[in-house]
Amino acid sequence: MIKAIYPGSFDPVTNGHLDIIKRAAKLVDKLVVSVLENPHKSSSLFTIEERINQLKLVTAGIKNVEVSSFKGLLVDYAKQIDAQVVIRGLRAVTDFESEFQMALTNRSLMPDLETFFIPTSVEYLYLSSSTLKEIAMFGGNICSMIPCEIKQEVLDKFTK
Ligand code: PNS
Repeated sequence: MIKAIYPGSFDPVTNGHLDIIKRAAKLVDKLVVSVLENPHKSSSLFTIEERINQLKLVTAGIKNVEVSSFKGLLVDYAKQIDAQVVIRGLRAVTDFESEFQMALTNRSLMPDLETFFIPTSVEYLYLSSSTLKEIAMFGGNICSMIPCEIKQEVLDKFTK
């Protein structure tokens, strides 16, 4: 059985993340989408609980997906849940350097943990949670960037 972990900030989950989740879920037996509880990042728009709930909502229809959060090193959490694979999405070339560094670092800490990169679908090439937040902040249209179920929640953060 292949168990994979798809870690990230997911602040908030975008259609780009969801695309990676759906494609990865077809390749593995179990996919754990896990939100990093980052003590150094106080600038998050959504709390960990809000992000977990959003991810649960948008992945509700995918049977082999589970949502969680983790603290500390990814390799320790991977060990704890018995995951053999890390999933990461790759957008433009600019992602490659930091993703490659992260994959090699994780591999040096846990040689049995493999990283699988999934290239983004072309429509999400330039999409990121930060771009999305900036567009929402200035009242732009985010409909094509975010799952419908959480669109209002994002807009509310900037209007209430
Ligand atoms: O969505 P993001 O912010 O690009 O995700 C980054 C994440 C959470 C995958 C990465 O920061 C991470 O795994 N952090 C946990 C700490 C860790 O294991 N660091 C060593 C590897 S770089």
